Amino acid sequence: MDKSQILNAYAFRHACKAFVSQKKISDADFDVILEAGRLSPSSFGFEPWQFLVVQNPALREKILPIACGQQQITTASHLIITLHRRGDDLKPGSDYLESFMRDVQKLPDDVHKMIGDFYAYFQNTLFKIAGDDYKVAEWAARQTYLPMANMMTTAAMLGIDSCPIEGFVRDDLEALLAAEAGVDLSKFGVAHITAFGYREAEPKRAKTRRSRDEVVRFI
Ligand SMILES: Cc1cc2nc3c(=O)[nH]c(=O)nc-3n(C[C@H](O)[C@H](O)[C@H](O)COP(=O)(O)O)c2cc1C
Repeated sequence: MDKSQILNAYAFRHACKAFVSQKKISDADFDVILEAGRLSPSSFGFEPWQFLVVQNPALREKILPIACGQQQITTASHLIITLHRRGDDLKPGSDYLESFMRDVQKLPDDVHKMIGDFYAYFQNTLFKIAGDDYKVAEWAARQTYLPMANMMTTAAMLGIDSCPIEGFVRDDLEALLAAEAGVDLSKFGVAHITAFGYREAEPKRAKTRRSRDEVVRFI
């Protein structure tokens, strides 16, 4: 790929405030966006996320006030709510992680044991988050920003706009998803929303960023 194509995609992407609601992303393009999310890296490869694609207009209307009335919620062609894992499933030795290593990662027994032990060491000693459900959930939630970013960049490469969204009442959105989508809140929390579609208007302001010197230090 031409280097300028990469940077053009980053320049094209902006936090789009409203989409042309009649203009839908093709299934083929949205499939590529979802694959970019699914193939994203995660700590130990445990993929502590789930992507809820919210295409039900009635449900979007209920999310709208929870998300501070942001028009992206109802005008987006496709809306993804990313859940992060939390709770007992993330504890070292949990049935969930044991079966994940066995059935998804298909680790041979010796590697399975080694990774399992290192995961406990990571939580206990390296990051010191073991036993603190809040810290473990936040650690999982942080990882979900990787698929979010990858999906937005992939969308931009396809000429599709997007908006990352944290402007919502998290407790209320979690309660709504528990009631309307059967989300088990002992296992999942809401990390963020990402809206995708085609811009209704050009961005009001040109992109601003600090200079390279302020952002990067070679040491
Ligand atoms: C984690 C996160 C949450 C954000 N939440 C919102 C939001 O709720 N609504 C919104 O319009 N923009 C939101 N933004 C967009 C930022 O305001 C925007 O990315 C930033 O101002 C830089 O502008 P640009 O993305 O257009 O280059 C969010 C961005 C991130 C990374």
